[in-house]
Amino acid sequence: MQPLPRLILATRNAHKTEEIQAMIGDRFEVLNAKAFPDFPEIEETGTSFLENARLKAVGISRCIEGWVLSDDSGLEVDALGGAPGVWSSSYGGEEGNHAKNNARLLAEMADKANRNARFRCTMVLARGGSEQAAFSGTVEGHLVESLHGVGGFGYDPLFIPVGHEKTFAELGNGIKNSLSHRARALNQVVAFLDGRG
Ligand code: IMP
Repeated sequence: MQPLPRLILATRNAHKTEEIQAMIGDRFEVLNAKAFPDFPEIEETGTSFLENARLKAVGISRCIEGWVLSDDSGLEVDALGGAPGVWSSSYGGEEGNHAKNNARLLAEMADKANRNARFRCTMVLARGGSEQAAFSGTVEGHLVESLHGVGGFGYDPLFIPVGHEKTFAELGNGIKNSLSHRARALNQVVAFLDGRG
């Protein structure tokens, strides 16, 4: 049997890796940057998802051969002018603290009638220190007024995707991975890589 082609994820985020692995793990050997302790920590200094995704994918692809894939993602809330956006992971004041992020979001939304929001995911594929392609996926939905469910991660307990009545955290990974922003971007990545033979 031929070995699976290898895809290195330019992230140390275990949740993103788990989702990407579940979606394409039978077609690629998906490896997280955590498996490579020598990789540099890439600072996300960009002001857009695309800029940050580029920094991560191109930066890591300088350190290893083969395809490197980055994911920069977040939540955009209409009533907050698109916030938290690229600052989604530190919205509550502490990087990666989902409980604080959700608490701040609930506080900011307390008096808002328009609760429309979307998740956005931008992925960049890089190789040998240069960007090869970029892809983006979104999922529209609305925010609820208190946390519901324990699945997923981040803002999942507050977000109901269009066409459903439960949050991503209640719907479970199977449904989330069939329609999420990450799934929609990743489908394009897989089509691109398939097209390259
Ligand atoms: P990044 O690691 O800079 O791309 O930040 C991603 C942040 O966006 C996460 O820490 C979450 O707060 C939020 N986020 C991205 N994707 C999801 C998702 O699928 N569900 C819930 N929150 C997400």
